[in-house]
Amino acid sequence: METTPPRTPRRTASARHACELPWWKRTTVYQVYPRSFADSNADGVGDLRGVISKLDYLHDLGVETLWLSPFFDSPQADFGYDIRDHFGISAEYGSLEDCRALIDEVHARGMKIVFDMVLNHTSNEHPWFLESRRSRDSPKRDYYIWRDGRSPGGRAPPNNWRSMLGRRGWHYDRATGQWYWASFLSFQPDLNYRNPEVKAAMLDVVRHWLGEGVDGLRLDIFNALFKDAAFTDNPRSFRPVPTEDNPDGFFQQALHTLDHADTFEFARELRAVVDAVPGPSRFLVGEVFGAPRTLRRYCGEAADGLHLVFLFKAMRVPFSGPGVRALIEEFERDFPEPLCPTWVFGNHDRPRSMHRLGNHTGKAKLLALLQLTARGVPFIYYGEEIGMPHADIPAEHGLDPVAAHFRFVPNWIARRLRRSGILLNRDESRLPMQWEAGAHAGFSHHSATPWLAAHAGSAELNVAAQTHDPTSMLSCYRQLLALRNRSVALQAGSVTLLDLAHTPSSVVAFRRQHGEGDRAEVVDVYFNFSPRDVRIELVAPHGRALFSTLRGTLEDAGTTLTLRGYEGVVASPR
Ligand code: NOJ
Repeated sequence: METTPPRTPRRTASARHACELPWWKRTTVYQVYPRSFADSNADGVGDLRGVISKLDYLHDLGVETLWLSPFFDSPQADFGYDIRDHFGISAEYGSLEDCRALIDEVHARGMKIVFDMVLNHTSNEHPWFLESRRSRDSPKRDYYIWRDGRSPGGRAPPNNWRSMLGRRGWHYDRATGQWYWASFLSFQPDLNYRNPEVKAAMLDVVRHWLGEGVDGLRLDIFNALFKDAAFTDNPRSFRPVPTEDNPDGFFQQALHTLDHADTFEFARELRAVVDAVPGPSRFLVGEVFGAPRTLRRYCGEAADGLHLVFLFKAMRVPFSGPGVRALIEEFERDFPEPLCPTWVFGNHDRPRSMHRLGNHTGKAKLLALLQLTARGVPFIYYGEEIGMPHADIPAEHGLDPVAAHFRFVPNWIARRLRRSGILLNRDESRLPMQWEAGAHAGFSHHSATPWLAAHAGSAELNVAAQTHDPTSMLSCYRQLLALRNRSVALQAGSVTLLDLAHTPSSVVAFRRQHGEGDRAEVVDVYFNFSPRDVRIELVAPHGRALFSTLRGTLEDAGTTLTLRGYEGVVASPR
């Protein structure tokens, strides 16, 4: 197997060594949805060799860490989030050899790789589940959560618990006359973490992939792992729909199904397992939902739990000065050092950020500035760097099992929900990456039929068209990432919100600082969240204006600066 010679690491040596924070607190993450990224063998489905062929692009973009959605052996009923064999690779994505080549190629470029671990459930085709459902006496029966129904005749579900998607989460198995529990969809039965054998087996999966050289794990619906051992009914609630900061919904509290005390404890156990794996430090990032104080508990009282948790609240932040300021204040209050916030504006389950921004490139550049300069770890969803638009695909054409689950919801309601951040047909945000103007946007060979058609606008909006355009979204991302990779202050500095005199509330400014006195590195960042020009007084006059989202590199910043509508500027005192 060929390996690429080592390339320039992501950060400059001085930026790396001048700072004592662990790498994962300073990193930048790029999420690849492998099915939609690059198809190397013209079968219409993206694959691992396809990802390898794009590593130079990602390296040049300036991101350090790649997180790949699951590509393990799976019937693909939920496109990989239904795993049949945790140690095998789904044939449509490649082979074990391809997987190892990917890990090596990523490392050869001085980059890192994160896999997606679905610990909560397996596919209903996993050999464990096939064995478990065979009979009540199966030695694997207790690998999953089986219960008798309530009388009469056990035909009523064991209790009132609803799945995360709002319907009953209990599914009746005629052959054995019992019900099994699934937090998500019926073909994704939950594992029983109260069975020590299950826990041990899943921890082996974790050790296995870290042993293969993986640098971190993203933990799928981690908040659902443990449920109430007594199967107590959930209390009623008035909330129809769960939100980022409150998982209660569908008219019940998720009191006994999510965020169980034993899951917080397990986060610490998992951390200890990960820390004990020999080699460089790794990180865990949890997909969890809820109020900040709940999310924070996953990180452990002594910062000895998950390294990071997704803070999905940023996806719904009002595009306004006061909204963004309040969010930064909240993240700093709830996730102070040694904790570290995350900055997420899109993923494979949510509307693309461009949708929320009305496809306004200037606004998207401002959001990129926030994501890449605020304190915390940015998670960039593939295509965000070119401003990939959201698609509008009616549920009846959806391949997504969630679209099938909600097929009864009229399209006009689905569109309204999408505006508030809830996506019923997730195909809409999983379209092929837009590489060039040719067939299938360069995602797949022209003779292939991609699993999802490329966006109609891909002939104009694509990587090739933006590569040499200094005003493009892609150039903005590249420059910002380069700036961040050079700056210890942006990677690891403290953040202080600045009060600017005589400035409207649509302007937000903060200072990132690393070190003290003569040796301090200071960077000031200014954002104008209004469409109007605003004249501001710079906190550090006559500094260097390093970068503007709308104008590229700037010269001497002077004492005052006119921020154009939706412009953001990074400046540094001399
Ligand atoms: C969350 C994942 O992000 C989503 O794509 C998946 O369908 C569910 N968990 C179930 O695994």
